[in-house]
Amino acid sequence: MSQKLVVGNWKLNGSLVANETLLRAIVPVDGVEVAVCVPFPYLAQVAAWSRGKTGGKTGGGIALGAQTVSEHGAGAYTGEVGAAMLADFGCRYVIVGHSERRSLFGEDDALVGRKAAAALAAGLTPIVCTGESLGERDGGQAMAVIGRQLGAVLDVMGGEGFRGAVIAYEPVWAIGSGRAASVAEVEEVHGCIRAWCDAQGVAGQGMRILYGGSVKAGNARALFALPGVDGGLVGGASLVAADFMAICRAASGGD
Ligand code: 13P
Repeated sequence: MSQKLVVGNWKLNGSLVANETLLRAIVPVDGVEVAVCVPFPYLAQVAAWSRGKTGGKTGGGIALGAQTVSEHGAGAYTGEVGAAMLADFGCRYVIVGHSERRSLFGEDDALVGRKAAAALAAGLTPIVCTGESLGERDGGQAMAVIGRQLGAVLDVMGGEGFRGAVIAYEPVWAIGSGRAASVAEVEEVHGCIRAWCDAQGVAGQGMRILYGGSVKAGNARALFALPGVDGGLVGGASLVAADFMAICRAASGGD
């Protein structure tokens, strides 16, 4: 069994003071890779804190990530933040293609692919989000949507690059709704994603696939017990230290 990865997505939340309190309570968990994807202005704060926890060593402690990245490397792109800048601040991960970016900021499949490729080129691991809306699920289109979204990323990155990405299955209807996908639904979709990867010539077994959408302390253990689930992408519960740590411990198989 590969090491589980639990990623907190803080979204548009935090302040220097609130982060300090939250970070103090986030501690490494044996056998689990823990990461937090924070708003850009707080990267330096979290990077400094993470260095302190690990005695300046890299690789241990809590990994740092961002929530989006520019497709561009540098230049006249006002407001954008480039992947090399994220690497400069010690980021290991960056989320791309979150459904909120797709629906609220008009990011399309091809742009998500270009962002994932830009991240990889800068040495970051893109966490590529994919997932269907409720209407698409009810219409039997879930896997078609996921295949289209991931296919666009594969087109840009190529098989070799795609293998370096983490996939996060986040059904849109489960995000922030309090209604996580059931264990059976997650098992089925993760299996389909691996089969889809196989069909594209990218060995599905080798891909890390997270589940996201209303992961809570109460349902994490059952979700993470699935062999096809390599960890979780956690929104709301990652802002509550006790809940986030309980989710991380659930990923370790501990209590
Ligand atoms: P919630 O855990 O709040 O449902 O959010 C999930 C999410 O969007 C993580 O990226």
